[in-house]
Amino acid sequence: MSQATIESVLQEKRLFNPPSQFSQESHIKSMEEYQRLYDQAKADPEAFWGQLAEQELHWFQKWDQVLDWQPPFAQWFVGGKLNISYNCLDRHLTPERQDKLALIWEGEPGDSRSFTYAQLHRDVCQMANVLKQLGLKKGDRVGIYMPMIPEAAIAMLACLRIGTPHTVVFGGFSSEALKDRLLDAEAKVVITADGGWRKDAIVPLKEQVDKALAGNSVPSVHSVLVVQRTGQQIGMAPGRDHWWHDLRSGVSADCPAEPMDSEDPAFILYTSGTTGKPKGVVHATGGYNLYTHITTKWVFDLHPSDVFWCTADIGWITGHSYIVYGPLSNGATTVMYEGAPRSSNPGCMWDVVQKYRVTIFYTAPTAIRLFMKMGEHLPKARDLSSLRLLGSVGEPINPAAWMWYHRVIGGERCPIVDTWWQTETGGIMLTPLPGATPTKPGSATYPFPGIVADVVDLDGNPVGDNQGGYLVIKQPWPSMIRMVHGNPDRFRRTYWEHIPPKDGDYLYFSGDGARRDPDGYFWVMGRVDDVINVAGHRLGTMEVESSLVSHPAVAEAAVVGKPSEVKGEEIVAFITLEENYTASDTLAKELKQHVGQEIGALARPGEIKFTEGLPKTRSGKIMRRLLRSLASGQEVTGDTSTLEDRSVLDKLRGGA
Ligand code: WT7
Repeated sequence: MSQATIESVLQEKRLFNPPSQFSQESHIKSMEEYQRLYDQAKADPEAFWGQLAEQELHWFQKWDQVLDWQPPFAQWFVGGKLNISYNCLDRHLTPERQDKLALIWEGEPGDSRSFTYAQLHRDVCQMANVLKQLGLKKGDRVGIYMPMIPEAAIAMLACLRIGTPHTVVFGGFSSEALKDRLLDAEAKVVITADGGWRKDAIVPLKEQVDKALAGNSVPSVHSVLVVQRTGQQIGMAPGRDHWWHDLRSGVSADCPAEPMDSEDPAFILYTSGTTGKPKGVVHATGGYNLYTHITTKWVFDLHPSDVFWCTADIGWITGHSYIVYGPLSNGATTVMYEGAPRSSNPGCMWDVVQKYRVTIFYTAPTAIRLFMKMGEHLPKARDLSSLRLLGSVGEPINPAAWMWYHRVIGGERCPIVDTWWQTETGGIMLTPLPGATPTKPGSATYPFPGIVADVVDLDGNPVGDNQGGYLVIKQPWPSMIRMVHGNPDRFRRTYWEHIPPKDGDYLYFSGDGARRDPDGYFWVMGRVDDVINVAGHRLGTMEVESSLVSHPAVAEAAVVGKPSEVKGEEIVAFITLEENYTASDTLAKELKQHVGQEIGALARPGEIKFTEGLPKTRSGKIMRRLLRSLASGQEVTGDTSTLEDRSVLDKLRGGA
């Protein structure tokens, strides 16, 4: 956040009470009710979660123990057996619900499809049977590299149905990034499509898969299942590649859901961290199912008639939890959209709301700021009266964007839930409950019942009101990260060793800074580590730096975030060149493209600054704090006495 934003947030005094009609009809109707749930959960978490698990999910076998907590390793519903795909599909196949719409899909350019619960169940069973025919066994891992089409959700549910954890790789990632993830997960099968539509152009997904697998570079992959979407010519490797429409014909639509142990991994999702390559966040079946189910129900105050639209891509945790698993587990109608706002169709989002009478809309601040920029005439020209609740996720929402969202999209009648959470938390952690919590623009308000959050210093001591500190979680919760795939050391180091245990509590380190105001409201300020949040996407500085130095011209690279109006943050890369290379606009462009190819367009630096040297400490550590100030054009303040060579700073000031 910029200094100006921090100041405006500190002075934020506006308070918005839930409309009384909304409260009366909601699941959690008042702060008293919230407080009661919160206190119950805190006093006896096992009773609280055990009761919800019993009420809200179907179990093939009940657990023996709600929680086994051997910090930092938690096991939930030990001994219980269930299947997420069963909870999302089979249990809704009742006479009242089987013909309800489960999934509404709006595609590009202009096509649409929808699935009732019965139809979705049939397709998922067929794909699950096809995966079995390809030789998959329980525990094998499957890569999913898909556009935003129904088969993406079908593939995810099919994997969980037969107990083969998926790892979904965002379709905007490069073949290199895809390869890294398939290798780390040792995927056996990849599910993809010939291509996908992105802003009026085709993304050649299958071609990227071919590149990722070229020369048998991921030896574990033996089969590729290809969904036909865009219809262009693609290569099919004999024996390895199969069309979905070929394999599915004549396949049975009956595939019983595999009873999974509650702690069996459900999926792996890669996310960026401070060091090294992205880490594979492992989520477990029972806890993830329960927590995404109950947060969807209470945070979005889900009712049978709702049409729920989360605009994330299924390649991110938001898409996993709040397009697919949370809504379907609740038997809701979920909307999936392949498109994105663009100059050729700037009002497309509002067309979708109008067309399907969307009631709950969940998006990111970066999108809201883009909508603001595109102009309020676009939403105003559509009928948005179906909307009753709005959500925000991905980065701190600045009060100006919050107010615009409230006024223009919400027509001043829809509560806004600003939800803070992470890939690692699996589900929403800090959030208003829309019928209960008075909201303040820019604050994620309070913890969800069962979540014990605090703001502490590096020794684990709570800081005072309005003092900045580290946002931590003090008690285990059902959908918490279980492991960094294949790397228990990294799991401990990243999340559990930054701050020592305090009074017997292990503190989960989120990597975010926050403060709490005198009313107890949490205000998340953004990352305190070397993670940059570009348009709601998380990128590690080191990842981008490694890709830059893999270019022959680059000797050293240091990457920082700089505030950006729409994207929140933008990447600025400081580069020193190898001998024989000279700085030029052409080279800057080439380096940006290089990062785009290595990681994906989302990681492409907005700006490249060539410099003769980087500011380092005497022990050789790059002083990013200085670079951050320089990148955003601020005065370099604070201690610079540890700089090894002070002339570097003067040169950067002058030259960069
Ligand atoms: C990081 C997690 C699961 C959400 C999608 C991104 C930032 C997320 C908020 C919010 C302030 C937020 C944090 C967090 N973040 N939501 N409401 N207010 N910051 O998941 O890629 O794992 O990123 O997104 O910095 O650590 P992710």
